[in-house]
Amino acid sequence: MEKYDHTFHYKQDFSLESGSTLSGFQLKYTTLGKLNADRSNVVWICHALTGSSDFTDWWSGLFDEGRFFDPRHYFIVCANVLGGCYGSTGPLSIDPKTGKPYYHNFPPVTNRDVVHAFDLLRRELRLENIHTLIGGSLGGQQVLEWAIQQPDVFQHIIPIATNANHSPWGIAFNEAQRMAIETDPTWKENHPRAGLEGLKAARAIGMISYRYYETYQHTQAEKSNETLQDFRAATYQRYQGQKLANRFNAFTYWGLSIMMDTHNVGRNRPSVAEALKKIKARTLVVGIDSDILFPLQEQKFLAEHIPDARLEVMSSLYGHDGFLVEFEQLSSHIKNFFAQDHISARASA
Ligand code: COA
Repeated sequence: MEKYDHTFHYKQDFSLESGSTLSGFQLKYTTLGKLNADRSNVVWICHALTGSSDFTDWWSGLFDEGRFFDPRHYFIVCANVLGGCYGSTGPLSIDPKTGKPYYHNFPPVTNRDVVHAFDLLRRELRLENIHTLIGGSLGGQQVLEWAIQQPDVFQHIIPIATNANHSPWGIAFNEAQRMAIETDPTWKENHPRAGLEGLKAARAIGMISYRYYETYQHTQAEKSNETLQDFRAATYQRYQGQKLANRFNAFTYWGLSIMMDTHNVGRNRPSVAEALKKIKARTLVVGIDSDILFPLQEQKFLAEHIPDARLEVMSSLYGHDGFLVEFEQLSSHIKNFFAQDHISARASA
């Protein structure tokens, strides 16, 4: 089944939570599958930190023919976040006021701003109801924020390996990564490659938080006792840093890490718990037993405070990255959730 890339252009001024205003924006989005006659088969995906709208690239284990969300039955949409670098307006875009890229002048964008922009796209597409809203990590944060802002739009939500407000621990990891970018002498410059060496170090720090002791033990242990240099774990860290630098930029990474840090569904609301209570969607919260970045206690909190939420735990050797790897477990939890939901719906009919 063919996927399509589109661009949504919003031409009016767009106010951000920070008080800054963007003179319009664009969102790149990808769709797969066909909208059915009653427009009831929409699945909307929110991508993670360095993801793109092309979910077939990084989540094909869930969204492909024969997979749980089979595009022969669902109309699947994913948009690159505002502030991203995969076709949506972000720091490398041209600032209409100066005719030059924003670079360091791109304003901070929060998850609420992202969700606001997504909602404008949703309205443009005339999608009154979303069957399922799903996302992991940063994407899971957006799932929660959107379901709180628009409780009547979403039938089901599946926030994975995420939290209601970003933790001091998570912020500390992100700050360490921003410090790494700052040490790059090119970071103050205004060109797309500024801070790229720093970005590599930042990614290497990030990888440690996405995984944990056992992951490295299992995948990067030395094959002999004789190694004195070029340890596998060392070349792995450098490889992952380079790999990100080949496809990303430091400005966007910086901004998205701040987006994650400012995530707090309780901001300007009575409390975090009260905000979660506003969610009306049937909710499946998924956590990963080895996730040190978004530990299980955060998903337990979500499940305790979102009305009638169900919590499932995946067992993984991949820590936080489990949501990008453990497709079989994830599909099985989602399948059971929908089966249960179907029984509940029949019972209450
Ligand atoms: N030295 C150098 N390179 C090494 C290596 C070593 N010792 N060990 C593995 N590699 C390379 C492999 O050759 C492979 O290269 P390729 O990607 O070019 O094919 C790559 O590292 C494999 O990485 P690995 O992490 O082992 O893959 P995986 O299948 O376990 O995990 C991902 C896949 C997508 C989860 C992971 O690669 C990744 O990108 N994680 C970060 C995702 C992320 O952003 N998470 C946070 C979301 S907030």
